[in-house]
Amino acid sequence: MWWSSSSWRNPAAVAGVLAAAAGVSALPQTGNSNSNNGDACNNSPSLCQKKYNEVTYLGAHNSYALRDDSTDDSLSGNQYFNATVALDAGLRLLQAQTHQGNATLELCHSSCDLLDAGPLEDWLARINVWMDDNPNEVVTVIVANEGDAPAAEFDRALQASGIAQKAYAAASGSPPGEWPTLREMIDDGKRFVLFATKVDFSPDTPAVLPEFDFVFETPFEVMTLGGFNCTVDRPSRLSASASDALRQNYLSLVNHFKYAGFAGIQLPDVDTIETVNSAEVGKEGSLGTHLEQCRREWDAVPNFVLVDFWDEADPLAAVDSMNQVEEAAGRDESAVTTGGGRNAAGRVGAGEKMAFGALVAFFSAAVVLV
Ligand SMILES: *[C@@H]1O[C@H](CO)[C@@H](O)[C@H](O)[C@H]1NC(C)=O
Ligand SMILES: *[C@@H]1O[C@H](CO)[C@@H](O)[C@H](O)[C@H]1NC(C)=O
Ligand SMILES: *[C@@H]1O[C@H](CO)[C@@H](O)[C@H](O)[C@H]1NC(C)=O
Repeated sequence: MWWSSSSWRNPAAVAGVLAAAAGVSALPQTGNSNSNNGDACNNSPSLCQKKYNEVTYLGAHNSYALRDDSTDDSLSGNQYFNATVALDAGLRLLQAQTHQGNATLELCHSSCDLLDAGPLEDWLARINVWMDDNPNEVVTVIVANEGDAPAAEFDRALQASGIAQKAYAAASGSPPGEWPTLREMIDDGKRFVLFATKVDFSPDTPAVLPEFDFVFETPFEVMTLGGFNCTVDRPSRLSASASDALRQNYLSLVNHFKYAGFAGIQLPDVDTIETVNSAEVGKEGSLGTHLEQCRREWDAVPNFVLVDFWDEADPLAAVDSMNQVEEAAGRDESAVTTGGGRNAAGRVGAGEKMAFGALVAFFSAAVVLV
């Protein structure tokens, strides 16, 4: 059942649906299996001695925006499973988008009337629970700061969630001369890294890293399988110079999700997801091909990789290949294989056609749901 157009417009109704669904979620609480991986860091002993910027991390694009029972399979959702399930499975990067709520930063997608997954600090608190259970893991969160909130507000969310104690603090507003190794970050207990767009670095809030002073990324509004490339899209001041950026110890981010247009609205393209998320190298539009192209062009492995619907096809295999990890330790995908949020509505079908109607009614102008 899809939200009626009135419930799209009514955040209270939406919040009610979310709250009700949270109470009856079918997702099993997966047993924690990562805490006793011996000497593994981020699922592999071979990664411990690598520097933070020498590792490739698979990330969930709009990781809080779910297309599952909790949102009535919202078309605004980019993922079938939530961030805890993603971390259990082996993802170590979570991307999110915040908008100004009344008193908090809210995890909304394009508009809080469309999809509101609650306050950032509550979501960070749930990630913190996972990190407490998994002490050998380094996790990165990247936030698109749509509400133009100042760094102090992100810092407040870090403190309120309890994750601040684990937060990596930058020494200055640009990449360090040398990033620490994963082992050093784990031993220091500073193994949570937060980047946000549109904030300024301040020594008062050193755990809030301005994304584009530390990270460059490839284009993100890709509409065709042939459209993925390794050109520096943001920050614009680094245009066409990935190698300069890498020399300055910038981290790289590969956006690898494809959109399709329906009635003037761009939505995650589920019809091509098997190809887009494929680890196969040589296939047009696959993650494997894109990562290999960037690695060749940059002469360095890509660091951050964002995909939609990470449980589809085998994006972790593509990332393992970059990291030269052959046998990852302690990944738990039981919540995925036993089926949680995913259902047939994840495919474009009759239900979606109705939902498109609701989306078209919601927006007065064409919009890209990125
Ligand atoms: C994901 O869902 C499970 C089950 O409802 C819940 O325990 C967990 O806190 C959720 N994680 C996040 C990050 O929302
Ligand atoms: C802000 O408060 C109003 C009135 O209490 C509420 O309806 C709305 O959902 C809130 N918005 C957000 C983004 O929290
Ligand atoms: C990469 O893609 C972007 C966006 O489509 C495009 O503007 C740019 O020209 C492409 N770069 C190359 C080298 O083709």
